[in-house]
Amino acid sequence: MAEIVIVRDKAEAGALVADEIAGLIRADPQTVLGLATGSTPLPVYEALRTRLKGVDVSRVRGFALDEYVGIDPSHPESYRSVITREVVEPLGLDPSRIRTPDGSPAGIEHHGDEYEQAIVEAGGIDLQLLGIGTDGHIGFNEPGSSFASLTRVKTLTEQTRRDNARFFDSVDDVPMHCITQGLGTILRARHLVLLAFGEGKAAAVAAAVEGPVTASLPGSAIQLHPHATVVVDEAAASRLDRAGYYRYAYANKPDWQGL
Ligand code: F6R
Repeated sequence: MAEIVIVRDKAEAGALVADEIAGLIRADPQTVLGLATGSTPLPVYEALRTRLKGVDVSRVRGFALDEYVGIDPSHPESYRSVITREVVEPLGLDPSRIRTPDGSPAGIEHHGDEYEQAIVEAGGIDLQLLGIGTDGHIGFNEPGSSFASLTRVKTLTEQTRRDNARFFDSVDDVPMHCITQGLGTILRARHLVLLAFGEGKAAAVAAAVEGPVTASLPGSAIQLHPHATVVVDEAAASRLDRAGYYRYAYANKPDWQGL
């Protein structure tokens, strides 16, 4: 099962995960990161700013999880823009080495395969950051997504469009379709780090970590991964049955294990 780390707040989570990422990059300047967007990973990106000062990041590669289909890449809420603004520019990464799935409608049926090919050519993703939707999605793999799925076009659920309406003028402006790494793509990454904060994520986290492994709750796919870490604040952990054990196991974790 995944290792569950219960932290006080977002800042502690950001520091913990940023330490891990900075350590990876120091050990291997060609580290390949899987980048999530949305609100959840922001404390990690924030904490990385200081940790990567003076570190050679010129060869780091990155692959975003997903992109909206049909959104202008220059739109401030396209995931291309978000990754540029929150990750590439503040961390000084080489923009030509950081990709988002191509959400342009022309040739969209091939963009998933092209993205998969690019990930394989980069040597695979070393550490994949993940958030989780209130409906249990990871990436934009909505409930029912195949565990074998690779990067492809999906239709966002109404719930996800409502959740993401805060980034747009209205829910009607949230694109209907997205192109997302599949659950199969995500499961190929060498280390999964899923973060979740707040009461609103508690049910999805409990179902993903302690519920049955089912395509109806795509986040539960992480139970199939040999190295998955779930970092949650107290509120997001509030529905976990075995929270006491997770705290005890983490407090007694051998130092050599790392995150
Ligand atoms: C973002 C992504 C989504 C989000 C999820 C949670 O690239 O793939 O799975 O991680 O929708 O979003 P936030 O973090 O905004 O609550």
